Amino acid sequence: MVGNKRKISRNSFTRRPSDAECRVKLDRLIAKHRSLGRSEAHRLIAAGCVRVNGEVVLGNQHEVDRFTQVELEAEVVQQAERALYLMMHKPGGVVSATVDAEHQTVIDLIDDPDKHTLHIAGRLDRWSTGLLLLTNDGRWSKQLMDAQSKVPKTYIVETDAPIPSDAVAAFERGFHFAAEGITTLPSELVILSERRARVTLHEGRHHQIKRMFGRVGCFVTALHRESIGRLTLPEDLAAGQWRALMAEEVKDVIRVTP
Ligand code: URA
Repeated sequence: MVGNKRKISRNSFTRRPSDAECRVKLDRLIAKHRSLGRSEAHRLIAAGCVRVNGEVVLGNQHEVDRFTQVELEAEVVQQAERALYLMMHKPGGVVSATVDAEHQTVIDLIDDPDKHTLHIAGRLDRWSTGLLLLTNDGRWSKQLMDAQSKVPKTYIVETDAPIPSDAVAAFERGFHFAAEGITTLPSELVILSERRARVTLHEGRHHQIKRMFGRVGCFVTALHRESIGRLTLPEDLAAGQWRALMAEEVKDVIRVTP
């Protein structure tokens, strides 16, 4: 059962690196590496001495991140870190956090030597289940999480009471949450049966679905995330299992328009 009032341990937060932390201009990197001026770095780049992921790059304005291999002549300027993009079928009872003193975390379920570099792109409450994305790429998760990017997230919800038909219009209008001083963006509610519905959100506020259902007189008893953007939880990924995203999935999930 998903408890609206259940207290979740908040002793652990996932960290997303800032944009600035993630990208740097190639000429700046080269200049810093050799303690040169920017114009000397430009000269080395223009002379074809710099390789980015194995390819010669001639433009100064090229940007690189920590996942890019940069070489200057025979020297490695920056060793590429391994970028990780994972999907998990989060089971109930496990917290969406990287460390937690009390409960098992989603990271505990992952068997990968670099799992401690991961952060969560869109948490689910402890008793919520379904599609969870994890990465060590802060730019990617920022794009995904940015409310402005409007990546839709779809959930199946079960409630303790019949869902009133006027809830559809209420979800579409949005709810004012005085504590945060915000009104939720329009969301789509499709009533599947008396106590079961599909909801699509275009943002991710704290306990948003439970709070919205609370406003229409329903307590959420089960909450399962089916999809994020174009990425749907595969039927053959059992609760507790995870897998790496394919390159196309990494790109597709942050694309909003067809
Ligand atoms: N909304 C909630 O209330 N809980 C979740 O886990 C996700 C969305």
